[in-house]
Amino acid sequence: MEKKMKRKFTRILYGGDYNPNQWPREIWDEDMRIFKKARINSASINIFSWAKIQPSEETYYFDELDEIVEMLSKEKYDIVMATSTAALPAWMVKRYPEVTRTDYYGRKHKFGKRHNACPNSLVYQKHAKALAEELAKRYGGNKYITCWHINNEYGGECYCENCEKAFRVWLRKKYKTLEALNKAWNLEFWGHTVYDWDEIVLPNALGEGMGENNTAFAGISIDYRRFNSDSMLENFKMERDAVRKYDPDTLITNNLMGTYKGLDYFKWAKEMDIVSWDNYPYYNTPWSMTAMCNDLMRGLKGQPFMLMEQTPSQQNWQPYNSLKRPGQMRAQSYQTIAHGSDTIQFFQLRRTVGACEKFHGAVIAHVGHENTRVFREVAQLGKELEQLDRILGSNNPSKVGIIFDWDNYWALEYTSGPHKDLTYVEQIHNCYRYFYHKNIPVDMIPTDGDFGKYDLVMAPVLYMVKEGVAEALEDYVKNGGTLVTSFMSGIVDESDNVHLGGYPGPLRSMAGVWVEEIDALAPEQHNTVVFDDGSEYTCHMLCDLMHLEGAESLAEYSSDFYAGMPAITRNQYGRGRVFYIGTNLEEKALDKVLDQVTAEANVSPVIDESTKLEITYRESDTEKMYFIINFVEDEQPLPKFFVGRKDLLSGKELDDSMTLKQYDVVMISIPKQEN
Ligand code: GLA
Ligand code: ZN
Repeated sequence: MEKKMKRKFTRILYGGDYNPNQWPREIWDEDMRIFKKARINSASINIFSWAKIQPSEETYYFDELDEIVEMLSKEKYDIVMATSTAALPAWMVKRYPEVTRTDYYGRKHKFGKRHNACPNSLVYQKHAKALAEELAKRYGGNKYITCWHINNEYGGECYCENCEKAFRVWLRKKYKTLEALNKAWNLEFWGHTVYDWDEIVLPNALGEGMGENNTAFAGISIDYRRFNSDSMLENFKMERDAVRKYDPDTLITNNLMGTYKGLDYFKWAKEMDIVSWDNYPYYNTPWSMTAMCNDLMRGLKGQPFMLMEQTPSQQNWQPYNSLKRPGQMRAQSYQTIAHGSDTIQFFQLRRTVGACEKFHGAVIAHVGHENTRVFREVAQLGKELEQLDRILGSNNPSKVGIIFDWDNYWALEYTSGPHKDLTYVEQIHNCYRYFYHKNIPVDMIPTDGDFGKYDLVMAPVLYMVKEGVAEALEDYVKNGGTLVTSFMSGIVDESDNVHLGGYPGPLRSMAGVWVEEIDALAPEQHNTVVFDDGSEYTCHMLCDLMHLEGAESLAEYSSDFYAGMPAITRNQYGRGRVFYIGTNLEEKALDKVLDQVTAEANVSPVIDESTKLEITYRESDTEKMYFIINFVEDEQPLPKFFVGRKDLLSGKELDDSMTLKQYDVVMISIPKQEN
């Protein structure tokens, strides 16, 4: 079969997880007929088929998969081919019990569920690699295979003896000597000093772990998270390389999960050709959070990504699986595209008959035909997307970078004190929310990002400051950048040992403040901050008690024994400035600070009008494509900026009486020479 250059998509992939293997042959033809009506052009297949395609250690069976691939190729689908390695076949567990995981409580698992392989089991690795290779050998030459989907949603942990041994090897490589390791983990504390590598055990409930989110020694627990993330990444790379051997030209991905805590996605993305992710907001997830996850997924590689999964209607695994209201799936799909996705894929194309996902929505419902609300909405979107290939590969230019860092995520949430309710994603989102509501585009960036690209860098709760990070931030500010950081920043190094000499450690001189103490307020308590203009707001959770060391105070506490001490500061540093927010501000107060920050940093919204609509744009060489979406309940007027333009989705000319109801979407193109 003729080869083609497959490093790029030639159209917006529209489809999703498709499991014809769960259905009799005659249903497949019906599927093809129905999907065509919805302009579905892509299917992700073979995701959980290991037991089918390898019924025993000695045999592969590809007849059915051949037929599926043949059918989809005939229909010219863009096939997303998975490697099936995310759920172990029963025969493997029976013959090689070592392939299963041992959990946090030390329980060795039997056969069951999925995402259940020990990443450090050599037997698992051998079989997974062989299968990936076999698949690539067989299907890699097929020009309709547009993307390889390795495994599925890597995640979870293993605390088995194999992993323990592998952890010691990982540690030896990292620390070289036990002396260095003892120091890094501060093992002199409680006399936990180790004298032999074999004395090191995994930090689960039987070791240093204290409940799944706490630990006696954050040093070892953070290292374990790094190790576990690396172990699974090695699994991914192993399968990726096996595929590349036979199919070097096709994009390779695996589906990520937004802000999922377990894996360092910035590190992972470096190994992936393209990022893809599964978007499952809850009924009450703020739209700004979903937007942030999309921006994070784009930020991982700084490139457009794939939406590998979303439900067309409802999930099954959340506590309350509400239906997506009419128009909501469409609005969410455009939000994803607006923030950088080049595909829209569903889980799943046909609703399964049994097991735990039978209530999970699908393009084809249990009724079995296309006369459903959900199908009509899927079909409408399909028709629209068919016309929008111009978005492929276009960028999301942003002048604001918000740091998101998995080491910080882990470290901050392992801290014992000062406050149990301090969570990482929530803190990052508190900042992101401001920019979202102002329609100021944001990039989510790593701690080793290229800060110089941004007019404003936000580093909230930058608790762990790793080697080189403070220096890079300092350079950035000296050269005119604006940095915002906050309470619980600059506290520890990469091993979770405190930067001695006063908080915020290595950020202290550029922030121009010294934090002497940190007060923790219980949920029923609060303090107040008063700004220069006399306005007063509440603050919660944590209050830094700080002294000015060159910075000016923007607001002060107004009660308790630290009334009058600065709570928010600004420091001129080189040609730039550093804002330090010393307490968890109520929303309006944070908005007020960030209004000043954005004014000084000169960053502005995508249009110069205030609106409750979400407005984002993507930019190609020739045009800016604006996505205008109404996620609020009330009808909203179209901003003047867009009046007189044509809506690419409806084809209609937009006049100044135009309004958008909830979930309405308008898409507008403005040629670049006009801007
Ligand atoms: C995940 C998995 C899918 C499916 C969906 C259901 O994202 O990747 O296999 O279980 O959830 O929402
Ligand atoms: Zn293991």
